[in-house]
Amino acid sequence: MKICVIGMGYVGLVSAACFADLGNNVWCVDKNNKKINLLNNNHIPFFEPGLEELVNKNYLSGRLKFTTNLNLAVTNSDVLFICVDTPKLKKSRSADLRHVFDVAKEVSKYIDKFKIIVTKSTVPITTGDKIEELILRKKRKKLFEVVSNPEFLREGEAIRDFRFPDRVVVGSNNKKVTKKLESLYDPIIKKGAEFFSTNRRGAELIKYAANAFLATKISYINELANLCEKTGVNIEDVAIAMGLDKRIGSRFLRAGPAFGGSCFPKDTRAITVTGDLFKTDLSIIKSVIKSNEKRRILLNERVKKILSNKIKNKKIAFLGVTFKPNTDDMRQSSSLVMIPFLLKKGAIINYYDPSGKKKEFAKHRNLVFCSNVYDACENVDLAIIHTEWEEFKALDFRKLYKKKKFKIYDMRNLYSVEFMKKKGFDYYSIGR
Ligand SMILES: NC(=O)c1ccc[n+]([C@@H]2O[C@H](COP(=O)([O-])OP(=O)(O)OC[C@H]3O[C@@H](n4cnc5c(N)ncnc54)[C@H](O)[C@@H]3O)[C@@H](O)[C@H]2O)c1
Repeated sequence: MKICVIGMGYVGLVSAACFADLGNNVWCVDKNNKKINLLNNNHIPFFEPGLEELVNKNYLSGRLKFTTNLNLAVTNSDVLFICVDTPKLKKSRSADLRHVFDVAKEVSKYIDKFKIIVTKSTVPITTGDKIEELILRKKRKKLFEVVSNPEFLREGEAIRDFRFPDRVVVGSNNKKVTKKLESLYDPIIKKGAEFFSTNRRGAELIKYAANAFLATKISYINELANLCEKTGVNIEDVAIAMGLDKRIGSRFLRAGPAFGGSCFPKDTRAITVTGDLFKTDLSIIKSVIKSNEKRRILLNERVKKILSNKIKNKKIAFLGVTFKPNTDDMRQSSSLVMIPFLLKKGAIINYYDPSGKKKEFAKHRNLVFCSNVYDACENVDLAIIHTEWEEFKALDFRKLYKKKKFKIYDMRNLYSVEFMKKKGFDYYSIGR
């Protein structure tokens, strides 16, 4: 098929590369010139395991083309995927749909024959209706169909998730168009993905409903971890035994820091706005948002307690600052709240993250990026394991101590309490 993917971020570039790898011809568009130049010179603008190889392979085969020229890409494609960002508006809980509507307006200028316009970006219910209205200002209804096809991939696992998703959801009010998309996804469906079709608004809601539910699971286990810390119960035991119940399932039941990332914080907020708009109080999701906000403060308080209420001039190592491993994405990571708080209280912080130095921390004083765990932990009073990168799972703490013994706050429960105690480490974790 002839495809155009608009927005070369985590979702757009991965989708484009995977579609091309399935044999489709894919035009990739971004308004960011620098990004397109990088891609045309074999550089991937962000870190996602396996993506560089996949992009290069399909670029060399000629199936993947990068451009800022939307006209060229639209004219040469039958199916257009909108994959631009839909962040939270600065002063409200709502999703900022500016980029989606900009694309719709631009695309409407170039539609010359029938096009399927697919929204892969996460957008609130009725966005598809609004895209349709915008395009109708320029083009007749016969020339296009607007479809919702939300994306469920996870950063860090994006290629695997795209190729082997649990389900592909397509929301369209047109059966012929649904069939066309089903045939595009056929190789993926044949490998075991469930194809689920519904109407357009249904697909828009499914994405938010899924994300809000996963966020709820995380907040639920995080709150139980707080109770475990006060009652001498091990949260891991509770989570494992709960997860063994097939009605519950074990995934997303891992206690840790507040959830972050580019999706859960903004999507939980956006769905409550939709609820309010349709006079439906989504009170469970609203309390998940509150619980997660509280957690950011609570874990800082815990750090303070571990340091015997004296943060001033204490040296702290942050191991991992991204919101999850195998990504360089810093959006809404809890480290963005924790590090500035500790700096403000007078801490001196070293941080190390396998995905490199972060521009988000460039302006802070008393905050240094180290290029490895050993340098980060030199002479510190406390090491905080913030992100569960593989390389933090088997650290040799005795070697890390070098000159000075430090406390360890493992916010991902990577080590067993018994083992760490037996070794004589001053070890703290979550809910245990
Ligand atoms: N990141 C994830 O893990 C993930 C997973 C599932 C769904 N989503 C959803 O997918 C969407 C995209 O997320 P992302 O993380 O890939 O975003 P991103 O911020 O990584 O990338 C968005 C890209 O769109 C480009 N863009 C913006 N406006 C444009 C325009 N008018 N024309 C051309 N390009 C334009 C930007 O330059 C940027 O390169 C969001 O709605 C998000 O909620 C994200």
